[in-house]
Amino acid sequence: MAYIELRQVSKYFGEVVAVDRLDLGIEQGECIAMLGPSGCGKTTTLRMVAGFEDLDDGEIRVGERCLSSKKKNFYVPPEDRNFGMVFQAFAVWPHLSIYENVAFPLRIRKLPKEEIEKRTKEALEHTNLFQIASEHPDDLSGGGKQRVALARALAIRPDVMLLDEPLSSLDPHFREEMRFEIKDLQRRFGFSILYVTHDQSEAMALSDRILVMRLGVAQQTGTPLEVYGKPANRFVFEFIGLSSFIETAFDADAMRIGGESHPWPNGVRPSQEIRASGRGILAVRPFEIEFLDPASRKGIPGVVTRKIFLGETIDYRVQVNETEVRVQKTRREPGPAVGENVKLGFPRPHWYPIGGD
Ligand SMILES: Nc1ncnc2c1ncn2[C@@H]1O[C@H](COP(=O)(O)OP(=O)(O)O)[C@@H](O)[C@H]1O
Ligand SMILES: [Mg+2]
Repeated sequence: MAYIELRQVSKYFGEVVAVDRLDLGIEQGECIAMLGPSGCGKTTTLRMVAGFEDLDDGEIRVGERCLSSKKKNFYVPPEDRNFGMVFQAFAVWPHLSIYENVAFPLRIRKLPKEEIEKRTKEALEHTNLFQIASEHPDDLSGGGKQRVALARALAIRPDVMLLDEPLSSLDPHFREEMRFEIKDLQRRFGFSILYVTHDQSEAMALSDRILVMRLGVAQQTGTPLEVYGKPANRFVFEFIGLSSFIETAFDADAMRIGGESHPWPNGVRPSQEIRASGRGILAVRPFEIEFLDPASRKGIPGVVTRKIFLGETIDYRVQVNETEVRVQKTRREPGPAVGENVKLGFPRPHWYPIGGD
């Protein structure tokens, strides 16, 4: 059994199903990123784990302990869950010094004076704030303020860190630096992390596993490589990384594009279910599409309509029947010019049903 367990957790706001029968297990010391577009239920889930929001169904447990259960009508209040929290907004108290900001939750918990001092100092040292502890957080940059929020969460020595888009208000440069700092702190202190983000590269960089959400429903849980390499559906494919999609019809044992029949790309057939529906979506990563010799008998014919220089990468648009297909190559690879006829090869195709995500 996982350390933290969400079982069939649901939350409704009137007609809106914010979270729909969510199952999730987080191991001790594991970092799970909850990834999905705005409004998919990430913050609501985090608030239920924290205890700020009650459940409309299901149960949340940590270790042997039940934290929230709809059926048992049981809730542990947030202050009795040993969780640290950092939010997107810079939630620091401007009238308190940095030191007092960090010590405050410990004072609320009525810890002995020496213990408060010890933990506050430790948290400040680990976040490189000790030298400026007597200053006010108002003068700090966004990154500095988030570091104070992190130190404050750290000082309670949490079992779990709940982080809700903590880096999304920061400059890109700071964002990357703070990713490393969060990972370092986790390594040192061993807490679990539930990390909410809509930024796929952040989820990839930080987490052991990613949970992809859409409209309150879990789409897939897996390692970054699994969700990138084996997306469970078209939505996950599109949300993680770049994508090109081609809608095709099917012949008996081939695909049909623009009235022409072609062998399955790299021999990869859609599932029986998709084939039976008569149409499907061929999904590929732009970097995994090959330019084949136009005289080749293999590949799908198209015409290059645009070629955009992106530094190390060249971004091509290739018109294939009615679809514009995105292809990427490094600038060191030879590639066709605009207007050229090409044939596209798909060595690693994925198939999804139409409208089936
Ligand atoms: N307090 C609330 N009252 C009514 N609707 C809410 C409330 N909080 C969230 N929602 C709705 O629940 C859904 C999920 O919201 P949220 O968990 O904030 O998503 P995310 O954090 O992924 O952007 C959205 O449709 C949102 O409008
Ligand atoms: Mg949110």
